[in-house]
Amino acid sequence: MGIAKTIATNLEQSSWIRRMFEEGIRLKAERGPEHVYDFTLGNPDVEPPAEVIAVLERIVARNRPRSHAYMPNAGFREVREAIARKLAGRTGLPYTEDHILMTAGAAGAINVVLKAVLDPGDEVIVLAPYFAEYRFYIENHGGVMAVVPTDDGFLPDTGKIRAAITSRTKAILINTPNNPTGAVYGTGVLRSLNELVEEAGHAITIVSDEPYVALTFDGVEPPETASIISRSVVTYSWSKALAIPGERIGYIAISPLLPEAVDLFNACTFANRVLGFVNASAIWQLVVAEAGDVRVDATPYQQKRDFLWDALTRMGYEIVKPGGAFYLFPKSPLPDDVAFIRLLQKEGILAVPGSGFGTPGYFRLSLTVPKEMMERSLPGFERALRAAEGNGPS
Ligand SMILES: Cc1ncc(COP(=O)(O)O)c(C=O)c1O
Repeated sequence: MGIAKTIATNLEQSSWIRRMFEEGIRLKAERGPEHVYDFTLGNPDVEPPAEVIAVLERIVARNRPRSHAYMPNAGFREVREAIARKLAGRTGLPYTEDHILMTAGAAGAINVVLKAVLDPGDEVIVLAPYFAEYRFYIENHGGVMAVVPTDDGFLPDTGKIRAAITSRTKAILINTPNNPTGAVYGTGVLRSLNELVEEAGHAITIVSDEPYVALTFDGVEPPETASIISRSVVTYSWSKALAIPGERIGYIAISPLLPEAVDLFNACTFANRVLGFVNASAIWQLVVAEAGDVRVDATPYQQKRDFLWDALTRMGYEIVKPGGAFYLFPKSPLPDDVAFIRLLQKEGILAVPGSGFGTPGYFRLSLTVPKEMMERSLPGFERALRAAEGNGPS
């Protein structure tokens, strides 16, 4: 059975990921794993909080009847009620269980929302740099991704977004704290996005993808998107907040201020079913509801951000200091980011080119690596920079 042309094209376009992965394997075999510094993967390197594992054990031991049965496609009612109560407390908005859908992580949540709102040819505005999977998620549901660059600080440029809106624009997909830049959108930024949507002339929804919202630094508390943007749907996930990306648990929170909230809830519930998720993991729904506000400690990520940002900027790299998430997004010393990635590879350093995030001229480093590995990689970063500047060995 031949594969679809669209998938063949997608695989071809993302073949650089495979090539990078293969290059990593080759380098590790050639030089020994201790001489390869892999900064490519955004996979939490901390364990889930002990409290969460204790809740999981309690729930398994309790073995409440029907814990493993089919359930409403939106998820267990009492779990959605618990989340609605929390969101109502934080935002002052009248959330109920009928605004919350439990999902297979943020990836599942975004696909469900897009399936629920897009007709073929509808447009979704995405701000570059963006999480590379967004294009595939939008195209999964017949949508067209319209890319709008952010400003020098990686914050939304409302003038450019306004110019990109057409009669087919259904949604603006934002991501704060951001992958790959670590930018955290403040109240002012969210207010200007709200104004933009209110002035748009037709219904446009802001879908705010917030899987990193528990990971902010320097005591910054990200504002509640739904308190500021009335036409909002927030997609959330515990993948990063509890370091459990393999467990696939998140939610969609539909703003009670959306006039079409009931229809959207029903559409998302149907989409969750027919996309084949059926419902989010039963056990993990019960765990996250009972675990409440438990979060991983963001301090180790902040310490690694400080260490690597300080070391690289002192060498001469230009990097906007991230306020959250677990990445650095330095400017490439060469305009051709892929060429610079090759210089880093010669030093055994693996990084993702900015082109992969719709923003050539930059590269992404993940902070989910041991600090001692970061320390050992620094001479390589220095040599690659000097080589790019043309006054070092190349
Ligand atoms: C911006 C962004 N959105 C969504 C996801 C998907 O997260 P999840 O594991 O919750 O599906 C990721 C994962 O890295 C991400 O970086």
